[in-house]
Amino acid sequence: MQNLGESEREAISSVVVKVFTIEQRFYSIWNSKWYNRLADFEGKKHANFLFGNPTEMAPQQMIDVFAQYITPKRPDWYAYRSTPEKSGIEAVLKRLNERVNVQFSKEDVCFTNGAFAGLFSSLRTVTNPGDEVIFFAPCWFFYDSIITFCEGTPVKVDLDMKTNDIDLSALRAAITSKTRAVIINSPHNPTGKVYSAETLQGVADILRKASQTQKRSIYLISDEAYSRIVFEPTKFQSPVAFYENTFLVFTYTKSLLAPGRRVGYVAISPKMNHIKLLRQALNTTITTICYSVPNADVLYGLADLENNNISVDFEALRRRRDILCETLHKAGYEFQKPEGTLYIWVKCPINSEDDFCDALSVEGVFVVPGNAFFPPTGSWFRICLSASDEMVKYSIPVFQKVIKALKGGAL
Ligand SMILES: Cc1ncc(COP(=O)(O)O)c(C=O)c1O
Repeated sequence: MQNLGESEREAISSVVVKVFTIEQRFYSIWNSKWYNRLADFEGKKHANFLFGNPTEMAPQQMIDVFAQYITPKRPDWYAYRSTPEKSGIEAVLKRLNERVNVQFSKEDVCFTNGAFAGLFSSLRTVTNPGDEVIFFAPCWFFYDSIITFCEGTPVKVDLDMKTNDIDLSALRAAITSKTRAVIINSPHNPTGKVYSAETLQGVADILRKASQTQKRSIYLISDEAYSRIVFEPTKFQSPVAFYENTFLVFTYTKSLLAPGRRVGYVAISPKMNHIKLLRQALNTTITTICYSVPNADVLYGLADLENNNISVDFEALRRRRDILCETLHKAGYEFQKPEGTLYIWVKCPINSEDDFCDALSVEGVFVVPGNAFFPPTGSWFRICLSASDEMVKYSIPVFQKVIKALKGGAL
């Protein structure tokens, strides 16, 4: 994609050309030799730690909920709709208000078909061409591209790679008179870090002060895709409790481990400046950007999902995290134990991530190379815990064998 000729560039918009360039490292995965080995392992034992996709059947309770609302119960069942029914909204608000300790009302919540749409529509609602939008790296694959599509200027700020925490002085230094928004992601993909109250207070203080100085609000876009996947004793705290001009972006796709079932929401802080206008603006954006709302049958199911606390088996995720962390640690891999999310972010034992992914893939173990996450330094790889227990078990001797071979110089 990166080597587009002049006439090819003319065939598509300049913004898509830019996004192709940004996403080069991500899309190159599909052309890599190691990734293409995945097909050779179809029907054979292997371990797929690539992306947050299910590797086992969904919980029966979840299947039952979705099945129940497919069949129309009245003529207008499949009319255009952008919110759940009253009971659904109440159930969503109850869980949300408990989780974040902020009293949202139903007007503050706009439903979207997942976090992609929530992030895109929040940013599009507040960003003017040339406005700077800060994001922290390493990060999920698409922030830079989403900012670019929203005509903002992406500004990458490095996380502290020793602690995986936000470097407050680096954030302060990155803010200019053009800063319009900051994207924050806790629990964090790929590091699994859950930011502390102290860090969030630090971010809020910086943004409040900078907003006053530049006499316009700097918005915080809080990507809380993994806020329900937090391992005890860590407690999740939402940035919205610390900073008033926050868009809280949530998705059910992670806690249900069903990214193909698209549903989520954006909750606007009730304390946001110009709250009424922003609610209206966000609703308009969500509607006109490809009508980015969930399907009606999924909206009807939200009351049951929330009231019955339906999710993937978090204990299974914790078990996989613990087994893998123990094995990797004993084998000599370096990493910080994740406090939340579906991921473990590990230092690659050699400089070439591709060679490392290649060595694992020969043995049927598949991980994502760190460079797809824009890390500031070093070489890394990411393991996804959505793999089954069987896959985890299969991978253990492979991780041990590969690091031993690398340290012995056999690769
Ligand atoms: C940090 C983060 N934000 C947003 C998303 C997108 O979520 P969704 O599929 O619900 O749109 C993902 C998906 O992996 C993610 O990891």
